[in-house]
Amino acid sequence: MDDISTQSYIGDIMLENCLMNASGCNCQFLSDLIQLDKSNSGAVVSKSCSVNNRLGNPIPRYYHNDTLSINSMGLPNEGYKYYIEAGDSIHKPYIMSISSQALYEDISILEKASSSNISAIELNVSCPNIAGDPQLSYSFDRLEEFLRKVFEYADYNKHIGIKLSPYFDISHFNMAFDILNMFKTNITFLTCINGIGNGLYIDLDKEEPIIKPKNGLGGLGGSIVKPTGLANVNLFANNTNFDIVGCGGITSGQDAFEYILCGAKTVQVGTQLVKEGTDVFSRIDSELKKIMYDKNYNSIECFRNKLTYK
Ligand code: DHB
Repeated sequence: MDDISTQSYIGDIMLENCLMNASGCNCQFLSDLIQLDKSNSGAVVSKSCSVNNRLGNPIPRYYHNDTLSINSMGLPNEGYKYYIEAGDSIHKPYIMSISSQALYEDISILEKASSSNISAIELNVSCPNIAGDPQLSYSFDRLEEFLRKVFEYADYNKHIGIKLSPYFDISHFNMAFDILNMFKTNITFLTCINGIGNGLYIDLDKEEPIIKPKNGLGGLGGSIVKPTGLANVNLFANNTNFDIVGCGGITSGQDAFEYILCGAKTVQVGTQLVKEGTDVFSRIDSELKKIMYDKNYNSIECFRNKLTYK
């Protein structure tokens, strides 16, 4: 299996393999980022950051079981300077995630990131957990205006990706394609999907929600979101020309294979990384290579976006 490669690209950024962590999972602190750097991931992604550090929401704010995770972390992060400096300790492609809190914040972080060891920025327009802040990804007029202003005013020199929430309605997909396609020259990649927002998970014994913030509402991840993630990846791959980063319920080589078949160039592992630790990357990479071997594929381009329809 030595001649089978899972190498991939985001724009012109080469990844030794197509796996990385999902933003938010085991990536808040420098020690986490260094562990990811030492692991067999193809890239390292930071926790979504704001200008100033934040403690986030009260605990318990995260839970997982065999099929799902639910979180309402509330954007705990160390502030953008920390994640720019962390880049100096990372030896593989490093993607800094910025959570859009306010336009001027994002523009100033983008500019500060320019002279740094960051390979790309993932602009997160889809955090479901900040009370009172509508998700930009669901407010189409505001999303368009936000992207227009970012690209008009920010003086930046990094590849930019947009992390999207899942869409469920075809008319919403079409609106998202139209807006994102206006920024063809500015955007390199789309990450699909962020958590399915505002689920509720009940602790049966206590007869109360399992997490505390927002009366128990939280973003869903894990295996239950995979069909939604695959649909979003496939639709964005077929209706835009951006590189697609797949995310949502990836636990195995088979899941990674399905995402790539649907059009993803790389995939992110979230809930399963939290469960298993950074050994998850070697396991999924070798499972993916085994599937490729059985199917006689030696690179991911042999099957990427080659889903056939009945
Ligand atoms: C948080 C959750 C998200 O899904 C996200 O995209 C950004 C931040 C959080 O609650 O910390």
